[in-house]
Amino acid sequence: MLMKNANCIIDKKYRIAEVDNRIYGSFIEHLGRAIYGGIYEPGHPGADKHGFRKDVIEMVKELKVPIIRYPGGNFVSGYNWEDGIGPKSERKSRLELAWRVIEPNQVGINEFVEWSKSVNSEIMLAVNLGTRGVDEARNLIEYCNHPGGTYYSDLRIKDGYRKPHKIKTWCLGNEMDGPWQIGHKTAEEYGRLACETARVIKMVDPTTELVICGSSHRLMDTYPDWESTVLDNAYELIDYISLHSYYGNPENDTPNYLAKSLDMDDFIKSVIATCDYIKAKKRSNKTINLSFDEWNVWYHSREQDKKITPWTIAPPQLEDIYNMEDALLVGSLLITLLKNADRVKIACLAQLVNVIAPIMTENKGIAWRQTIFYPYLHTSLYGRGTVLYPLLETPRYDCKDFSDVPVLDTVAVLDSKKNEITIFAVNKDTRENMIANYNIKGFGKFRIIEHIVYHHDDVKIANSKDYPFRIIPETKHDSIIEEGILKAFLPKLSWNVIRISIEG
Ligand code: AHR
Repeated sequence: MLMKNANCIIDKKYRIAEVDNRIYGSFIEHLGRAIYGGIYEPGHPGADKHGFRKDVIEMVKELKVPIIRYPGGNFVSGYNWEDGIGPKSERKSRLELAWRVIEPNQVGINEFVEWSKSVNSEIMLAVNLGTRGVDEARNLIEYCNHPGGTYYSDLRIKDGYRKPHKIKTWCLGNEMDGPWQIGHKTAEEYGRLACETARVIKMVDPTTELVICGSSHRLMDTYPDWESTVLDNAYELIDYISLHSYYGNPENDTPNYLAKSLDMDDFIKSVIATCDYIKAKKRSNKTINLSFDEWNVWYHSREQDKKITPWTIAPPQLEDIYNMEDALLVGSLLITLLKNADRVKIACLAQLVNVIAPIMTENKGIAWRQTIFYPYLHTSLYGRGTVLYPLLETPRYDCKDFSDVPVLDTVAVLDSKKNEITIFAVNKDTRENMIANYNIKGFGKFRIIEHIVYHHDDVKIANSKDYPFRIIPETKHDSIIEEGILKAFLPKLSWNVIRISIEG
């Protein structure tokens, strides 16, 4: 059988950064069946007393999602947050223009706070800078974070929430560079608005952290001038700049598709360069970090979505069904985020339930895990600690859009408290298995705790509501330790998690 080889040195001295756990964040938008029929379905046999689905709560808890962006997305640019507070029976339904549906407003900020507590997540709250602006943001932060004794904080108390929600991370709008965005703006218009909105948010609560909108993706005509202009306007008031990127394989070219993690890496590097250019221009001591707050695979559902009847409640929108190769790319994108952990401090897999999501539900039926659930789960569970730089010698390949693509994509994370190292690896070769020789001698004696492999010979295979466990990760015993070298057997087209205990 054909077999490739790669060599990688991992040493505790070669550190990239401490992982900010918020890179395992996610996103829930009022879109499709994410809220209604996803996290919230009062008629479901497994719903709790608030109408939240307990099966979904359990799956989100399994993923240990530290932060969830809410309520949009494109939705937020037309959203009046006041529509989602007060008695549910008095809430108004609205035309929701971003996704051409009806929004019943049965879930709003308070319900989402309740739900996020039940899944042990923080909220990253976006304000509407499309149809609204400084005034709305000032009222919303007063409602959420001020203890009491003022109009909006007392309104929250009247709504049943004596203690403030203490929301720390705020997004200043969403994708304001996109012509599709309600209230789309030029970089100068948005930069000024973001600056003034940031000012009032920090006046009300100086402990907040703010994310300014970067480009919707790197192919936008205005990228990266957009980043440069908005940062120039608001540099000293904001903390992070956002990046968004979705990938797909419409050409059915697996090697090219799997190489798209290089695009994410390039995007990150160029946004860092733009941030640091403005830092130099302003002679500032402050460094702006990155919030990659929308990333995923999104292409399977695009044709289907064109057929949706407008102005209904919670139709199935953006319901991509993910296959094995999607899980491999998601694994590689997670490795890319880890390798950039020195500057990427927040990242949100977009999204979490039903809408381009790792978790799917049937209305009145089961919840099930998509293929992409697993790399997300593994990195969230075992990818916390210090990212170690992989000194890598790997075969490479050329494809349609990329050259010199590493066949082995890998990184390691050290958990010093548990004395464990976890290696994450994707073998992108479509034909050959690989032996990857990891030299981790610097750590002394070690043993393999487990080697989890996610692989199927058919990369187009997917889980489904009828076959929810068709492809699940397996523990394999093909990797060995020889003279201080971990010889890891990585099947072709596989996602691998090798957990190592340091014992000497
Ligand atoms: O996540 C789906 C959509 O993608 C979001 O609403 C928007 O921000 C992006 O274009």
